[in-house]
Amino acid sequence: MSALPEAPAPTAHAMAWEERVQRGAHPVVYPFLRRVAARGPVVRVPGIGVVVSDAAVAREVLLDTERFTKTGPGSPADLWTPVLGPAVLLNMEGADHGRLRGRLAGLFTPRAVADLTGPALAAVGTELTERLTGGGVVDLVELAGRVAGSVICRMTGLPETDDDVRTAFRDAQEIVGMVRLHRRSLTPRQVRRARDVLGRLSERATVAYRDGDESTVPGRMRALGLSEHEARGAVGAFVLTGTETLVSFVPRLAALLADTGWDVRLAASTDPELAGRVVNEALRITAPTPAMLRAVAVPARVGGDAPGTGADVRPGDRVVIATLLCCRAAGAFDPDVRQPAAVRQLWFGAGPHFCLGMPLATAQITAVLDALVASVRTRGPLRVVAREVARGVLIPAYASLRVACA
Ligand code: HEM
Repeated sequence: MSALPEAPAPTAHAMAWEERVQRGAHPVVYPFLRRVAARGPVVRVPGIGVVVSDAAVAREVLLDTERFTKTGPGSPADLWTPVLGPAVLLNMEGADHGRLRGRLAGLFTPRAVADLTGPALAAVGTELTERLTGGGVVDLVELAGRVAGSVICRMTGLPETDDDVRTAFRDAQEIVGMVRLHRRSLTPRQVRRARDVLGRLSERATVAYRDGDESTVPGRMRALGLSEHEARGAVGAFVLTGTETLVSFVPRLAALLADTGWDVRLAASTDPELAGRVVNEALRITAPTPAMLRAVAVPARVGGDAPGTGADVRPGDRVVIATLLCCRAAGAFDPDVRQPAAVRQLWFGAGPHFCLGMPLATAQITAVLDALVASVRTRGPLRVVAREVARGVLIPAYASLRVACA
């Protein structure tokens, strides 16, 4: 990786915290991968795979589903199939994947997302604004966990009592926490435990599916033509992909705003597109899904032909797309800078597996951001009162981020 231009002081402070978040989660793997990336855009690392840290090469791999797949040895299917079953989007390719995705698309239209999250997000937004404008201190990790828990309850048809919301979130967190980048599959004990935990959530989803009540997600899946089995699998996939990512991102977005002063710029701005640019830039810097994995289906070349720019791969190899490093190579946090085309939205993937839940993620992020900006307008700048980095987790995050206004 080439040296980055020096960032202005508040930005350097923000980036230093982001660095601590990464090192807290992966004290060995993260610095190691940075050293790997410094050797070139595509580097073979024994025991890990062929590591890609260049956005354009990453995009080529993600779009080439004939050579690089999410099924087969070394792919994410090794991790998730024993837990979720064989056909849950994350571990499918080709026509079957396209068909299932097409049927699930109806769950993520703006209307469907508003129905799913609208009331819960409005309540959280009001609570956040009231507490901050009243001079209170709010732990955004706790708040984001509650938002995620209540979305899981809506997904599975669980009632949204405080207990259910907390348990649903803890369950999802436990399963995601079992995954390690250096292990290609879960241990048999982990699989049993993950199935038990997920079973609790899916049980409720099955009841909701059988009832066919279209105000629940499983009921709506039935109306969209999914079988009971597919609906259970999809609920599991949503819980696994859509929980930790958001609980990681929302507090980190707030920290970036407070650390750089962008909270005040946003609050003073009348540009309707600025908030979207700021969120995208924060997603680029944080890349909540820090890596994407692919198995090699047929012999191929990853990256360029010149020495040091690519690698030959064959079936049995694993390609590790270091999304975070691909995105970070475009510089420090700066919403004023246009992101290079290859990087744009890479944090949500590319090609047929592009994040299906992006509209849902955006709704949750926007609800919290709007409440923060409204509080800044009323009471003054966002301030991080205290923060603690999460240690030894899969998705880098804060363990707590306590904020106040002025
Ligand atoms: C900031 C939050 C999020 C980020 C950064 C994110 C990122 C990603 C990425 C990078 C992928 C592609 C993985 C790959 O190609 O290997 C993906 C796929 C996926 N995401 Fe998200 N995601 C987020 C939130 C969500 C939410 C809230 C949901 C809720 C349903 C969700 C559901 C999915 C699903 C179902 C897939 C698999 C799609 C497929 O394989 O066709 N994501 N996400």
